[in-house]
Amino acid sequence: MLETNFLIEKAAKTHHLNLTEITSLLADSSCEEALCRAADTVRHDFVGDGVHLRGLIEFSNICRQDCMYCGLRRDNGNVERYRLTEDEIVRLAEKAKGYGYRTVVLQSGEDAHFTAERLAAIVRRIHAMDLAITLSVGERPREDYALWREAGADRYLLRIETTDAALYESLDPGMSYENRVRCLRDLGELGYEVGTGSLVGLPGQTAEMLARDILFFQDIDADMIGIGPLIPNGDTPLGTAAPGDFHLTRRMVALLRLLLPEANIPATTAMETMVPRGRELILASGANVVMPNVTEGDYRRKYALYPGKICVADTPADCRACMSGRIAAMGRFVAKDKGFRHHGHHGSQPHFKDTDTAESQ
Ligand code: 5AD
Ligand code: FES
Repeated sequence: MLETNFLIEKAAKTHHLNLTEITSLLADSSCEEALCRAADTVRHDFVGDGVHLRGLIEFSNICRQDCMYCGLRRDNGNVERYRLTEDEIVRLAEKAKGYGYRTVVLQSGEDAHFTAERLAAIVRRIHAMDLAITLSVGERPREDYALWREAGADRYLLRIETTDAALYESLDPGMSYENRVRCLRDLGELGYEVGTGSLVGLPGQTAEMLARDILFFQDIDADMIGIGPLIPNGDTPLGTAAPGDFHLTRRMVALLRLLLPEANIPATTAMETMVPRGRELILASGANVVMPNVTEGDYRRKYALYPGKICVADTPADCRACMSGRIAAMGRFVAKDKGFRHHGHHGSQPHFKDTDTAESQ
């Protein structure tokens, strides 16, 4: 216990732990509350009490990949496929702006219909509305990423899922770990804010592998890190796998805050699918971002990565009101700026009121 408290204190002060130290904290459920308290303090000191809301638009569930865990995999014949039109996507972004979001996340399966030029046209229209744009459409050539960046995209989300190359390639058939890392490197070089993250509870994944994930995120200086538990989907080969452990995922989030103190860290939807009020618990354990869904109608249900997805019967207005109420009830507030990552203010100087600087980055 002494040793554990020492490690938590060291992480909170220096933001550095080695592989063995991270692994031991991940594996020790008795340290969870102390770890999360420390992460909440570091979160407050480095990124403040503002919670950034990003409006999530799930614009196509068509995917050319076949990931063993994901309901959108191409071999899943039980999902009704859909694709929104350019105008429909832009209209959802306009509505998101109307609800007060400053960022929209455009997410889809790897849908070849959206050529680089087609998606660039959408990005240009949304960029003109003074919204920050995050793309999350999978692996593409560097030229595509470059075109979208020129068109006005600010951020990109591409989870590494696991940094164990053999595990990655066994769960994402036909995909290469090397290409995934290439994508993340290209995105960083092109000036995107890069978001990545892992799935917790993949079959065969160990605490040491998760610790290596954290070191990888430090190494690439990730701007955003989204972590969620595996939720077995009956329409996939991992349908009968054990679900990811909520508490291990929570310790992972807390450690990420201690070791990447300036990063944007979302309380993910998957956490709340597993535990009611799970997002509040994660917001109090180091997280500072929520991505409420702004997809409308039946498309929410059809974007079925995993079963039990929350909010499928709710409207975008419901989710907006729900989240601001819950954030206020925690004594936090909805941030008004676009929520770019804070840079280089290590130490005691509070910088989270510095929204002008954040906006201009
Ligand atoms: N359970 C939890 N998360 C999943 N994802 C895909 N399938 C599942 C599942 N069954 C996550 C992946 C992907 C993100 C968009 O959704 O990590 O990167
Ligand atoms: Fe969708 Fe609460 S976030 S209803």
